[in-house]
Amino acid sequence: MCGITGYIGHKQAAPILLDGLTKLEYRGYDSAGLAVRNDAGEIEIVKAKGRLKALKEKTNDGLSLQGTVGIGHTRWATHGEPSENNAHPHVSMDHEVVGVHNGIIENYQELKDKLIRHNYHFYSDTDTEVAINLIDYYLKKYQQGPVDALSRSMMRIRGSYALAVMFKAYPDALYVARKDSPMIIGVDGEDTFVASDVPAILKYTRSVYYIGNNEIGKLERGKVTFYNIDQEEIEKELVKVKMDAKAAEKGGFEHFMMKEIHEQPKAVRDTINSVVKDGKIDLSAVNLTDADIQKISQIYIVGCGSAYHVGVALQYLFEDLVEVPVRVELASEFRYRKVLMDANTLVVIISQSGETADTLAALRKSKEAGVRTLGIVNVVGSTIAREADNVFYTLAGPEIAVATTKAYSTQLAAGYLLAVQFAKARGKIDDAKYAELIEEICSLPDKITKALEDKERIQWFAAKYANAKDVFFIGRGIDYAISLEGSLKLKEISYIHSEAYAAGELKHGTISLIENGTLVVGILTQPELYEKTLSNMVEVKSRGGYLMGLTTYGNYNIEDTADFTVYIPKTNHYFATSVAIVPLQLFAYYLSVAKGLDVDKPRNLAKSVTVE
Ligand code: G6P
Repeated sequence: MCGITGYIGHKQAAPILLDGLTKLEYRGYDSAGLAVRNDAGEIEIVKAKGRLKALKEKTNDGLSLQGTVGIGHTRWATHGEPSENNAHPHVSMDHEVVGVHNGIIENYQELKDKLIRHNYHFYSDTDTEVAINLIDYYLKKYQQGPVDALSRSMMRIRGSYALAVMFKAYPDALYVARKDSPMIIGVDGEDTFVASDVPAILKYTRSVYYIGNNEIGKLERGKVTFYNIDQEEIEKELVKVKMDAKAAEKGGFEHFMMKEIHEQPKAVRDTINSVVKDGKIDLSAVNLTDADIQKISQIYIVGCGSAYHVGVALQYLFEDLVEVPVRVELASEFRYRKVLMDANTLVVIISQSGETADTLAALRKSKEAGVRTLGIVNVVGSTIAREADNVFYTLAGPEIAVATTKAYSTQLAAGYLLAVQFAKARGKIDDAKYAELIEEICSLPDKITKALEDKERIQWFAAKYANAKDVFFIGRGIDYAISLEGSLKLKEISYIHSEAYAAGELKHGTISLIENGTLVVGILTQPELYEKTLSNMVEVKSRGGYLMGLTTYGNYNIEDTADFTVYIPKTNHYFATSVAIVPLQLFAYYLSVAKGLDVDKPRNLAKSVTVE
């Protein structure tokens, strides 16, 4: 949800800023802009509507902007349509203050009215322009410099922000402020960087500061000074990040999504290996003891998008295996309703980025209720990882494609491992079952690899269906959870309307949409529900539907009903999601490619949704 970069040093800023933005484009890509201070002390701003490519062309890859201090932005529109006018950087009325922003200023209208009363006027529809002018207002009113102006503005602003600001009168520094939107600061010798996310600066440095909520940073050449909102100087530790710089490159694949689909066996294996030691699950890194687990009376699993779908799959597992009541909730709903949690409730918060605004709000709500929170998070040091009581890190590595694949798969693996350990700690399974389930989980990476081998057939089938108008996914139980994710993948990147339905529910309305040739994907990995879903597929077929079946090797009688079938290796039914999702990811991918769409950056979406 918008990416920001900033640089101050002795090198030319614009190419560094553009390079950083390339790594942040997953956060938004409807417009982009740069502001660089030239040697005459003027801050020059260039913006372009559309992908970063347009800005690169406009600035000759940054070479047309001369200067060693600057800020950059790639946008996902919230307030104001995507346009050059609404693109960042934004500038105060008299050009004294220039800034970029990621987040949302909730009370921007009230602040705008106040500024209008003080004779400010505005050229854009954005909340950011209001914030920049507010900073300018306090700068002029109190004449106490940038840190003072920022801190006064922060006290007035409600909402979220990662702000990087340049002040015309303070040429040798960049200023940053943060609340609830991600931001990191890097240093290497005399070079100082700021960015929304680590990959943007990894090429230049691994030494980073994590700036906290309600904090301000003053960035100079090779020096960073931090302040709290009361303008008192605070100390911060410089942390070395371990991330592999190559992990954020395409590595020979045409798209990040395909690369990440293929990284799933490794990502899942790494995540499993982080807690499975000598055939047992050791949750000491998660800081969760068997005694903690035994106390839990009920579980809420909360997330957005695919993370929510992980929760839906895990619910079946936890209720069946652990015999504990589970509710899966969309974070955006959970945060605004009365939730009845007793003191022994566990809230499991699932988030790749660890920054999703609604998920973070759900975490904070749970913490306020005094219950234990456990984050399943991919990004180390992210806000959810820092605020949750316990953290299970998924080891997916950086995920760049907007449509999640490997992060989703690692979240599932983390959930399985928790469920099996919970079942053991609560005496629901014996040692033999415990060992058997762990062995099954450990076999998943190889089964995912096997599922990847069927690529060509899926590619062929996808090309055939590139003109489909509607696609339905049906399944029961865990197969319904798989359907939800398969359908989301498809609509996200192919723009084909798609719905997932609990197979038995189809006849209560949705079946009226089935026409001659409508594609319906039936998912049948759950042995006990196989016959039931098959009957629902027959109902569809008799109304003209074209059927794709997705089931495990051995269920060959499906061919009597389905027009096209994809087989996957058999696994314990609890863990089938991990294998079954692979062909559905590939199907969505190939459909998107067949339609000539931008697979990694689908329209209107952003990877990290830091607004509600
Ligand atoms: C966006 C992404 C999805 C993701 C969801 C939750 O919508 O496009 O792929 O599942 O956000 O993100 P999180 O970072 O919290 O897992």
